Amino acid sequence: MKLLEKINKEQLPQHLAIIMDGNGRWAKQKGMLRAFGHENGTKSVRVTVETCAKLGIKNLTLYAFSTENWNRPKVEVDTLMKLLVSSLKKEIKTLQSNNIRLNAIGNLTNLPSGVQKELQEVIEKTTENTRMTLTLALSYGSREELIQVVKKIANKVKNNIISEEAIDESIINQHLYTHNLPDVDLVIRTSGEHRISNFLLWQIAYAEFYFTEVLWPDFTENHLYEAIISYQKRERRFGKTSEQIIP
Ligand code: IPE
Ligand code: IPE
Ligand code: MG
Repeated sequence: MKLLEKINKEQLPQHLAIIMDGNGRWAKQKGMLRAFGHENGTKSVRVTVETCAKLGIKNLTLYAFSTENWNRPKVEVDTLMKLLVSSLKKEIKTLQSNNIRLNAIGNLTNLPSGVQKELQEVIEKTTENTRMTLTLALSYGSREELIQVVKKIANKVKNNIISEEAIDESIINQHLYTHNLPDVDLVIRTSGEHRISNFLLWQIAYAEFYFTEVLWPDFTENHLYEAIISYQKRERRFGKTSEQIIP
């Protein structure tokens, strides 16, 4: 039986988030520069995006560049930014033909103006697309996101726009970069690292985790199917007992 046939289309994660890790090690194993790994990582991005859309996943969020990644050597940061512009230019076609809307989260004003411009253009061009929302986390850090949430809410309280008593989960959700997205159901991280690296800390409160040794440029449809099959075997109890879940 093919892996794809084992997937229950009625029980897909509503929101899948992926920490695409291992590009550098993939290149190193081949005796190549890290940039070569990043270039090859873009192929896995395309395959993953198209596969998710075809499966019927409504929201896919990809961790592409963290706030901490700014601390990498300048040549690597520059390579990644260039790659981002060229991928956006190239993949607009893939997004349109698959009816995918592009979205971006993070401290986007820190990105080079060329990246901001290209990003804005693709976001605008795909804004009417409805099959899937692809969110790129760029210059994204969860702690930074939460700091700006606290600042915005504090400001509204100070100006009597909302009362302190009214602050609840929903108010916080509304102020996150991800305000228009549901909570994350499944997080996949490649490359054998078992950590979150400042990704969507609030949004993953009840997410399932799937870690694989596969390096991101080697990640294929079948690896994605395996992750979803594993997710579908789990019992998500949200604090309740098993008996409450299956009456
Ligand atoms: C993920 O691959 C891509 C980014 C973080 C931008 P890495 O570049 O982190 O690859 P490793 O972890 O060094 O192998
Ligand atoms: C996390 O990967 C960020 C992205 C995948 C964009 P890193 O490779 O930067 O994570 P750490 O630093 O090893 O935790
Ligand atoms: Mg890494």
